[in-house]
Amino acid sequence: MNPDNQMMLSPYILPNGVELKNRIVMAPMTNFSSNPDGTVSDDEVSYYARRSGGVSMVITACTYVTPNGKGFHGQFRGDHDEMIPSLSRLAKAIKDQGAKAILQIFHGGRMCPPELVPNGEIVSASDVPAERGGVPSEEITPRALTEQEIEEIIHAFGETTRRAIKAGYDGVEIHGANGYLIQQFFSPHSNRREDRFGGSLEKRMTFPLAIVDEVQRVVKEHATPEFIVGYRFSPEEPETPGITMGDTLKLVDKLADKGLHYLHVSLADFYSTARRGVEDTSKSRIEYLLETIDNRVPLIGVGSIYKAEDASKAFKAGVPLLALGRELIIDPDWVQKVAEGRENEIVTKIDQTKQNELVISDPLWNVIIHTPGWFPGV
Ligand SMILES: Cc1cc2nc3c(=O)[nH]c(=O)nc-3n(C[C@H](O)[C@H](O)[C@H](O)COP(=O)(O)O)c2cc1C
Repeated sequence: MNPDNQMMLSPYILPNGVELKNRIVMAPMTNFSSNPDGTVSDDEVSYYARRSGGVSMVITACTYVTPNGKGFHGQFRGDHDEMIPSLSRLAKAIKDQGAKAILQIFHGGRMCPPELVPNGEIVSASDVPAERGGVPSEEITPRALTEQEIEEIIHAFGETTRRAIKAGYDGVEIHGANGYLIQQFFSPHSNRREDRFGGSLEKRMTFPLAIVDEVQRVVKEHATPEFIVGYRFSPEEPETPGITMGDTLKLVDKLADKGLHYLHVSLADFYSTARRGVEDTSKSRIEYLLETIDNRVPLIGVGSIYKAEDASKAFKAGVPLLALGRELIIDPDWVQKVAEGRENEIVTKIDQTKQNELVISDPLWNVIIHTPGWFPGV
């Protein structure tokens, strides 16, 4: 093995004492392939099994915690006890290959397509439409949730965590990123409330922090201390008003003291720089985050780490763990190749002739090949 790659293959111990066998994790990726009844499909099980042999931990595609949080066609359900056997199948497929299985838990809020939610009713922190591609989608003005409904959704995140525990997962990741409901409460764009859930930066943190508390309460009641709880966030929003890097550092400062087992930033480019809200916009977001976290909790970095040398360089920036997303769709043997000293054989562009070999379902394959520029090679 190339000595430069030693770090990424070395074990890492999470704050709750759980040992990860190496530093590479699979990023959560929606695959649009679940069965119409919301159970995990055979195709999904095969797709995950194919990608769980090298990484230390697999974070699943997000599952929704209430029916009005369904954000994607072919998304699997985590909102009902009847789903425990289905959730369990996925956990087993991952764990059988030697990786920890982490269920990502989610509510889509104003990003949900109306045809996927009961009565087409879209909900969010406030009645502000999302700007998609810079244009407000006027047809989809969400309804602001009542305080009681907010409490119910917080409870639902705990309930899905309880199901994850029953289903045999090693942990859950709270999806507070990518513009979905948890982020909508933190964002000054989507949260214009004047009750205890909004009005100031501090109050906009109420919902995300309450979800952390509820998930941790359920874990304490139903699981052992080895059960992993992580939190994912996006550092900035392009809209004005919108979340700035400065806002995120304040949230991260709070999250770092919450007793979580990891934080996970969502970035398309590991080296991206801060847009606004901090002094130095030439400094990378990762640098700012590491400084603020100050070793209180591990940070998972991510974003266009295609080659082993990209990963070695990223570890030198100071992150203890790295997530790979598209890279593991393109080359499921990424980690094994590094371990065997064959890192120069890592494939970095999707081979459009190899859908079957890559074990990719039709719905995911179609999205990949019809979205130019998203995956290298398309
Ligand atoms: C097909 C696809 C689906 C995704 N779905 C999710 C998701 O369910 N939850 C999430 O937090 N991020 C999701 N992401 C973002 C990835 O986790 C990751 O942050 C992003 O792809 C950048 O990492 P990469 O350059 O290694 O692919 C998705 C990305 C892709 C490509």
